[in-house]
Amino acid sequence: MPARILTSTPENLELAAAALRRGDVVGIPTETVYGLAGLAFDERALARVFAAKDRPTFDPLIVHVARDVSSSSYSRFDWLEFLSESNLVAPERFGPLAVERVRLLTTLWPGPLTLVLPKQPNMPDLATSGLDTVAIRAPRHAIAQALLRAVGQPLVAPSANRFGRISPTSARDVQAELGDRIELILDGGPCDIGLESTVVHVAESGQVTLLRPGAVTSDALQGLIGARVQSPAAGNLATTTPAQRSPGMLASHYAPIKPLYLLPAPLAGMSGEQVSRLQSMLGHRTGVGVVLYTGSPADALTGLPACFWSTSETQPVARVLTSKGDAAEAAFNLFRTLRELDAHPQVQVILVEPVPDESGLGHAIADRLRRASSSK
Ligand code: TXA
Ligand code: MG
Repeated sequence: MPARILTSTPENLELAAAALRRGDVVGIPTETVYGLAGLAFDERALARVFAAKDRPTFDPLIVHVARDVSSSSYSRFDWLEFLSESNLVAPERFGPLAVERVRLLTTLWPGPLTLVLPKQPNMPDLATSGLDTVAIRAPRHAIAQALLRAVGQPLVAPSANRFGRISPTSARDVQAELGDRIELILDGGPCDIGLESTVVHVAESGQVTLLRPGAVTSDALQGLIGARVQSPAAGNLATTTPAQRSPGMLASHYAPIKPLYLLPAPLAGMSGEQVSRLQSMLGHRTGVGVVLYTGSPADALTGLPACFWSTSETQPVARVLTSKGDAAEAAFNLFRTLRELDAHPQVQVILVEPVPDESGLGHAIADRLRRASSSK
């Protein structure tokens, strides 16, 4: 029986909450991507999450929390105190600068920002892969919040895809990824953002390091804390390799099954040499899917080097990420476009134009494309 997709009625929300309280796993919507939720303090549920995803246990999970609506007003709500009382974070390990910065960063909650903070020793090692830190996020999606409140406990929720594959941005995507392994998926519509959250490490000293770019940009973080945000290479984290610090930084991740090549330049701007290099790399492969950053699909077909027409028995399939050249729209469309071409019977190889501007959200889009690319 494939997983049931539940519309988010109050009855279905209670059904999903009851399944989670029993230790089952459930596909849930968030504003970034869909997650596979399970109780954060239940070893059995954690094991189920790893098994359903084929996820290696060295890759730690994000714990999701929601603030209790009955507590004081939003502006006075102290997330750090809440995380400490919830047996998640150990703020006593923080110096005053770290405390101040976590207070500033949590003003962005609920939202697409994950904070990696010192954990309390009672947190299951499986959730954190034995690290002495825990990743935490308060999602903004109303259904995710309602579910967290109904369950009454923190939930882990990695993206609801098989390990290394493209994150799901709709309930149907979750069904395609994990439908034969889980029973319930709560439908909250397409994800507003479409890219996974920004992950940031806050050291005990207060130093802030960006581990995964996302919708909360480095500039926004720097503006908020009034200090530089480190890149991981310059980071001073306790663990050894960057991949161990945040396995989401593994070079190959978020990848389709079909080969994906990131073009060296926009189609229209490729030099003769770049075209012939691409041609020899692709050989006689037919069935080309092209993803333009902006423009119209007709541009892609006319801009495509003639070789793809002469060798292709089938017409190339062209898709556009944003007709308006808007990075938020491109992010929203990225994963579902890759997923669609990955499943398209006429497509054997996917070519993607580079992101024209890697500042702001363009940084996160370019990061995901580099990791999805087969040509590293
Ligand atoms: O937007 C998101 O963050 C989604 C939605 C469902 O909330 N979740 C998500 O989870 O993307 P996941 O498991 O696919 O990615 C979590 C990332 C991984 O790169 C993991 O290595 C990193 O967070 N991470 C988790 N705990 C960590 C820790 N203690 N230290 C460093 N990195 C950590
Ligand atoms: Mg993931």
